Amino acid sequence: MQFEVLAKCHTTRARVCRMKLAHGVTMLPTFMPVATQAAIKGLTPQQVESLGITLILNNTYHLNLRPGIKVLDEAGGAHKFQGWNRNLLTDSGGFQLVSLSKFTTITEEGALFASPFTGEPTMLTPEESISIQHSIGADIIMQLDDVVSSLTVGPRVGEAMERSVRWLDRCIEQHERSGRKDVQNLFAIVQGGLDPVLRDKCLDQMIERKDRVAGYAIGGLSGGEEKGNSLIKQCADRLPVDRPRYSMGIGFAEDLLVCVALGVDMADCVFPTRTARFGVALTFGGPLNLKLGKHTRSFEPIDKDCPCPTCTSGMSRAMLHHIVTIETAGAHAVTQHNLVFQAQIMGRARDAIIEGRFPDYLRTFFRGYFGDKG
Ligand code: GUN
Ligand code: ZN
Repeated sequence: MQFEVLAKCHTTRARVCRMKLAHGVTMLPTFMPVATQAAIKGLTPQQVESLGITLILNNTYHLNLRPGIKVLDEAGGAHKFQGWNRNLLTDSGGFQLVSLSKFTTITEEGALFASPFTGEPTMLTPEESISIQHSIGADIIMQLDDVVSSLTVGPRVGEAMERSVRWLDRCIEQHERSGRKDVQNLFAIVQGGLDPVLRDKCLDQMIERKDRVAGYAIGGLSGGEEKGNSLIKQCADRLPVDRPRYSMGIGFAEDLLVCVALGVDMADCVFPTRTARFGVALTFGGPLNLKLGKHTRSFEPIDKDCPCPTCTSGMSRAMLHHIVTIETAGAHAVTQHNLVFQAQIMGRARDAIIEGRFPDYLRTFFRGYFGDKG
């Protein structure tokens, strides 16, 4: 990976970086759309590429279940399998410890999952997670981490953090053994729940391993926790300036921009694509619920200034109101719009940082998005 800081905001910690991976350049800060099953719901990879998106996320746990590594190896990796020629990041499966917690048992060796198809137990170890991610061939791969829900309190939080550090070491060893270090980049994931002391302990240990990791993620905060921003600040302040910083599972426009102001470079979330399927279009004037009856006769596009294919084609809010929850084409159209919206929030942030007017951009954005409330 080539990683270069190009510009910094003088009053916040926001920065613009250039990250060059095996499948091209991605400018940071960036939002990464989620394609859990190797497809962004409702869009083809070619459509995603034509929106200007250069980095998407796949999930190791899900791709290992189906189509499985044998198929991925035969295909020559997930890029070829899905026809995606730009950068790809795979999450390790650690998050499924929380999202599928009813089906998992955690031991020092790894996470034991019951297959949702057969009930058969399968062990996902740190070594295996990395080896599956090698078969997938993503440009950025994530360590397997022991993730607890942010509602968890007590000794389990510290135990999960310490185990995440031990699992990082096993991931590093596996990755270094593979000879794939030049093409695939391993990121560590800072854990420690909502406890600043545990976060600092995790940071101490993970920063010590800086020469063996390509970047850092901040994990365990995707539930929109109240203390989330102060913990992101704490982590971003201490993480090495010459490594990309990725806040996992964060995607509301307002949270994205706060993260950027705190020095975060990358973020992902299912929110913009999921909310599209529920008929909500994101705009600089705030979210627009297309299902509401008031759109029955709105013959204007979602946003007349939006460069997305849906808005430039002139598809009306009325049409979208008419089809969004009954015809898949409606969901596709809003999904494209929402991904372009997320890309624009970040693209405008990059321009504003470079031009020395990021604080102004934040004020304008929040005023527009929340109206007088902001
Ligand atoms: N996605 C959202 N949060 C997390 C996290 O803490 N760990 C992993 N692996 N994925 C995530
Ligand atoms: Zn649009």
